[in-house]
Amino acid sequence: MRRIQCDIEVKWPLQVVFSDRLFDPKNPSLRDVLVPSPGQPRARALMVLDASLAAAKPDCVRLIRSYFLAHSDRVELVSSPSILPGGEAVKNSTALVEEIHSQIERHHIDRQSYLIAVGGGALLDVAGFAAATAHRGVRHLRVPTTTLSQCDSGVGVKNGINAFGKKNFIGTFSPPWAVFIDCSFLDTLPPVHKRAGFAEAVKVACIRDAEFFRDLERDAPFLRAFDPEAIRRLVHRSAELHLQHITSGGDPFEMGSRRPLDFGHWVAHKLEQVSEFRLNHGQCVAIGVALDTLYSCRAGFLDEASGQRVLSLLEFLGFELFTEELMRLNEKGEHLILTGLSEFQEHLGGQLNITLPRQIGVGVEVHEMDRGLILQCTEALQGRSSAREPARSLT
Ligand SMILES: NC(=O)c1ccc[n+]([C@@H]2O[C@H](COP(=O)([O-])OP(=O)(O)OC[C@H]3O[C@@H](n4cnc5c(N)ncnc54)[C@H](O)[C@@H]3O)[C@@H](O)[C@H]2O)c1
Ligand SMILES: [Zn+2]
Repeated sequence: MRRIQCDIEVKWPLQVVFSDRLFDPKNPSLRDVLVPSPGQPRARALMVLDASLAAAKPDCVRLIRSYFLAHSDRVELVSSPSILPGGEAVKNSTALVEEIHSQIERHHIDRQSYLIAVGGGALLDVAGFAAATAHRGVRHLRVPTTTLSQCDSGVGVKNGINAFGKKNFIGTFSPPWAVFIDCSFLDTLPPVHKRAGFAEAVKVACIRDAEFFRDLERDAPFLRAFDPEAIRRLVHRSAELHLQHITSGGDPFEMGSRRPLDFGHWVAHKLEQVSEFRLNHGQCVAIGVALDTLYSCRAGFLDEASGQRVLSLLEFLGFELFTEELMRLNEKGEHLILTGLSEFQEHLGGQLNITLPRQIGVGVEVHEMDRGLILQCTEALQGRSSAREPARSLT
């Protein structure tokens, strides 16, 4: 027998640029990251644009075309931006992936050209997957345009679509070439989607950064009123923390079973599916964070007062922390939410790894969860929700 053991190392440069008015011709940041193929004067790019964004900002396409015209010495947009539907439904089939593949083929986008996706996390997940699988990997740029995708998914290295009733069952790890966070896109978002990203920010603050958690508490009245500057502070710090985890966490492609930033997500992913996506990712993350926070208190990891701070902040920001889907049973009379725990473990592979808050800003990993205690926590959330008066302040 002969065995060759070697390590394959790949360096993956990633730029995350925080810049407003990305398509203002005077803003060079987008042009500057588009590097032409060797021997070519201009970089070639295909752009897909979220239809809801295009509808909400009717001059968006004109602005984008003017931008590329103004920089036509360096960059070429191979066609007018392709307006494609966004929202979770596009992740539930392969149709949009095929559409983007066919555009990549039609416009001769090669491995030295770019696919630029502008939109919400769902369209970005689909476009990232299409880019990663065309020619085994076309460079892609992400321009997230929702709070959630700017806070979290847009700066990540994952993409994917849903299949077999399971979230993100098909997908790859594939870092984008660059990400642009432009908070000026957020002003046209409906409130429910503006709020959704707050859940990911609270999530990461709870387990990584006590000071950020205090900042969120301080900013809560402004966030509740969707003040753009408060949202900008939230987005920037949350994106930084997610990025820090990817670049310094030691496992960017999640080869192990650890998923430290997925606090609350075993519940969230199951709730999205059980609610048939009536509840969006952010709403489900808020419920998941609340449930796992209560669990952490009852299991003796987190003190009661800190747990209350987390729940109160989420409620004050406008999240409902109970939904009847938490109580749904399957045909065998089992709680559907509990099957989510096994599915989450299968998705990670290997050992169950759940992150819970140990104190505000610090997480702890557990490898088992007591199913009876989980159900007690769902009942506690139900009781809390029916007794709750609308919160006027955080104190
Ligand atoms: N890849 C990852 O690492 C990762 C991480 C977290 C979440 N996600 C995924 O992200 C998805 C959720 O993303 P999302 O919260 O951005 O939701 P979304 O993509 O569904 O967008 C919400 C809605 O807003 C519209 N929209 C987008 N930008 C707009 C704008 N500026 N103005 C008006 N409307 C606009 C979209 O068309 C959609 O209808 C989920 O599928 C989730 O699983 C992925
Ligand atoms: Zn999430």
